[in-house]
Amino acid sequence: MKVDVVIGLQWGDEGKGKVVDVLTPKYSVVARFQGGPNAGHTLEFDGKKFVLHTIPSGIFRGGTVNLIGNGVVVDPTTLADEIDTLNAAGVATIGKILLSKKAHLILPTHRALDAAQEAAKGGAKIGSTLKGIGPAYTDKIGRAGLRVGDVLHPDFKKKYDALKQKHVALLRQLGCAPGGEEEEKWMQCIDRLQNELTIVDSEYEVNELLNKGNILAEGAQGSMLDVDFGSYPFVTSSSTVCAGACTGLGVAPGRVGEVIGIFKAYCTRVGSGPFPTELYDEVGEQMRRQGCELGSTTGRPRRCGWLDLVALRYSIMLSGATQLFMMKADVMDNFDAVKVATGYKINGEATDRYPYEVDVPVEPIYKEFRGWKMPLSGCRTEKDLPQEFLGYVTFIEQQTGVPVKFISVGPDRKETVLR
Ligand code: GDP
Ligand code: IMO
Ligand code: MG
Repeated sequence: MKVDVVIGLQWGDEGKGKVVDVLTPKYSVVARFQGGPNAGHTLEFDGKKFVLHTIPSGIFRGGTVNLIGNGVVVDPTTLADEIDTLNAAGVATIGKILLSKKAHLILPTHRALDAAQEAAKGGAKIGSTLKGIGPAYTDKIGRAGLRVGDVLHPDFKKKYDALKQKHVALLRQLGCAPGGEEEEKWMQCIDRLQNELTIVDSEYEVNELLNKGNILAEGAQGSMLDVDFGSYPFVTSSSTVCAGACTGLGVAPGRVGEVIGIFKAYCTRVGSGPFPTELYDEVGEQMRRQGCELGSTTGRPRRCGWLDLVALRYSIMLSGATQLFMMKADVMDNFDAVKVATGYKINGEATDRYPYEVDVPVEPIYKEFRGWKMPLSGCRTEKDLPQEFLGYVTFIEQQTGVPVKFISVGPDRKETVLR
């Protein structure tokens, strides 16, 4: 049996939540492998809308095991809130979520540090979601973090206090007075995790489950936010590429099956950092409006621009995507023309490589397509799709060398065309 991996190929928010929800019936397990509550994965069905942050997007389909892997950073408070929201909507979670002992915990002081470090950066801020992601992964890599398995030990409070004191000293250096108000709730939620989730040695669990059925690994963020390959330092703090699924779950690379790369028919980015095809005009505004491009986690307006094939080919290369899923095609229904960047000009030189430098001026080289000017949201099969749109899809396949197998034409799980 195999682990198929869903990853975002752009700057996050490609529509991974919808895709995982649509694909879940084919899998016995859905597993998150990196990131944490910085993610916001939206699912829509039966007139209802849910946004998940840490819980895998398989939770709405009965019989599926949902696993939070060792590569994830977990904030007990947001996870408990998420469970409450689902339960209040009649979605059962008890007995359906496995949590890795080796996942690291986000402490209230990690969140405070995230805010303080961002504030200290002034104009050079990353645009973090302020969920404590960077500081929690810093402690993990610095071998100072607290893990979920630690909560099962009698000296947990002692370890917590020691780490908190380290954070308090850092906060003071940054001129911040640490508040303790979130700690009580956080501790209560630690108890809830022990009572309401199943804490496991997830690498053994995953490999045993893999002998019985296929697993879908659900990526968070996007390849262009990867800590190694994104536009550093304007990145998140985890490995968002396919390799992250191996280290974030404990599965061998040879167990990876399909690598499903998700991209929007255009591009968005939230937070700071380079975005070569960004639009500052009415067309960008139209994308934002039509695509409801507001962050699922922070509510911030997303920056919008044309599809960037330089970045897309780069992301496909890094993860070896075997199939592509195009999302939000319907957002460009009313456009007279649709553009796509096929290369860049940097200092007057044409290149098809994504640059190392984050501050170099990049001029995209565009190819223009005639708009399809018809609503796609009612399309359910390939023959329903207009020729102009199919020409756009075929061009992307030629440019990337990977088939586009799935076209999403609306937020609902039914608004989907399989090819
Ligand atoms: P994720 O983080 O990759 O799961 O993506 P988000 O949930 O943050 O953002 C995607 C947004 O687009 C959500 O509001 C989805 O409901 C919505 N969405 C997903 N697919 C489509 C689509 O094909 N068309 C439209 N119009 N919206 C979509
Ligand atoms: P999903 O899974 C879009 C961005 C933030 C910021 C940078 C670092 O929903 O696609 P962090 O909080 O990780 O330290 O922020 O990364 N970012 C995302 N952008 N979608 C996400 O997740 C994101 N998670 C983080 O905006 O620029
Ligand atoms: Mg999102």
